[in-house]
Amino acid sequence: MKLANNKATLSFSNGTPNIELPVYSGSVGPDVIDIRKLYAQTGMFTYDPGFLSTASCQSTITYIDGDKGELLYRGYPIEQLATHCDFLETCHLLLYGDLPNAEGKASFTRRVTNHTMVNEQMQFFLRGFRRDAHPMAIMTGLVGALSAFYHDSTDINNPEHREISAIRLIAKLPTLVAMAYKYSAGQPYMYPRNSLSYAGNFLHMMFATPCEPYEVNPVIERALDRIFILHADHEQNASTSTVRLCGSSGTNPFAAIAAGVACLWGPAHGGANEACLNMLTDIQKMGGVSKVGEFINQVKDKTSGIKLMGFGHRVYKNYDPRAKLMQETCREVLTALGLENDPLFKLAMALEKIALEDDYFVQRKLYPNVDFYSGIVQRAIGIPTSLFTAIFALARTVGWIAQLNEMIGDPEYKIGRPRQLYTGSAPREVKPLAQR
Ligand code: SDX
Repeated sequence: MKLANNKATLSFSNGTPNIELPVYSGSVGPDVIDIRKLYAQTGMFTYDPGFLSTASCQSTITYIDGDKGELLYRGYPIEQLATHCDFLETCHLLLYGDLPNAEGKASFTRRVTNHTMVNEQMQFFLRGFRRDAHPMAIMTGLVGALSAFYHDSTDINNPEHREISAIRLIAKLPTLVAMAYKYSAGQPYMYPRNSLSYAGNFLHMMFATPCEPYEVNPVIERALDRIFILHADHEQNASTSTVRLCGSSGTNPFAAIAAGVACLWGPAHGGANEACLNMLTDIQKMGGVSKVGEFINQVKDKTSGIKLMGFGHRVYKNYDPRAKLMQETCREVLTALGLENDPLFKLAMALEKIALEDDYFVQRKLYPNVDFYSGIVQRAIGIPTSLFTAIFALARTVGWIAQLNEMIGDPEYKIGRPRQLYTGSAPREVKPLAQR
């Protein structure tokens, strides 16, 4: 970052002396006011619950232009990556800063492929869960448990440990998600098949059984690979910020990523894809497209507590570019599977059309986000609704690791420790029990 040709002067109406704060510019996007010395100079904190106006770090990984609805991974537009690259090329880009050439891609793919198996002991963790446990409960446990198996790579300050942990996590998350699914289905686990692609191997581990050969459908394989690309990273979202804050204590990479999994589970964040599909299914049961108007009225009625899941975003005040690509992928998969008349897809498009013409949504700049169509395409592929967020976690693991490694690699980083505005009791004496 570089000093902007601008300064911020803070003046106070109560006579506290003015202070000047440096303003920095990045390569693109809003400038920042450096407030690191504010408390030392004024004895005051800034106040920004939910971080609406706070940059927590500087980063070179992902940039979002919320007004234009643009998303760049290391400068490349998501539309180009989703069209010209596959997920492992995108992982290489996010981790190392550039797309690999053919040789680099082959070597990175080999390294990931050689780490897809998990320790045989991992299956005993699953046995402790009920068969109907939510997959995100299982994933939060399994990812954290990985730290028990790799004592050779838990020092987050050791670049080699960070590198091998990154490869292990990218390679093993699909295996763990598929194990969580097989466990809930009461089917035997399927070991990774190294001859398959990253997405093809995941489909194999999910849907193959020991009883008969399983053919990967290339249309679904490509669609799933694109879904992974669209979910790979997204600046300082809630789960990425959780991973950074957790990692800033020096804990091991597996524990930090497990914290990200736990945060992603929430319906306001990665859990929205599951919540959105359940919302569409409920509207379908009520009568489908004919009930959309009634549902939208409920959403607009604040007392209902109902939100249009898969809509709205803290940063995008325009169409989420991932939602456009996801709708396209949805159409491709449904057509390939002969489901082009899928009622939920038609319902989602009707809902989107009505919402985008309704003043409530227009005024608040609420548009479809990545979660609005992703559930429909995953359901068409045969993925159970409860597994959608686990797949989001699988894809976002590379972004979490890239952001964590960027932070640890930054000589300026410190343990994250926000302050507060205290509004509780003033100091008071404890009375003996008999006098309370
Ligand atoms: C993800 O941060 C990321 O980058 C996340 C993510 C990623 O890739 O990591 O993009 C992934 O989490 C996408 C978002 C998935 N969540 C949902 O789809 C859940 C539904 N959306 C909302 O909960 C909400 O839009 C948020 C949480 C996504 C954003 O909330 P904000 O930025 O805090 O905005 P807000 O809640 O203050 O809303 C502003 C106004 C409010 O109305 P008013 O008080 O001004 O009258 O818009 C309303 C909100 O009530 N509003 C909605 C709405 N979202 C916002 N009203 C109805 N339905 C919605 N979905």
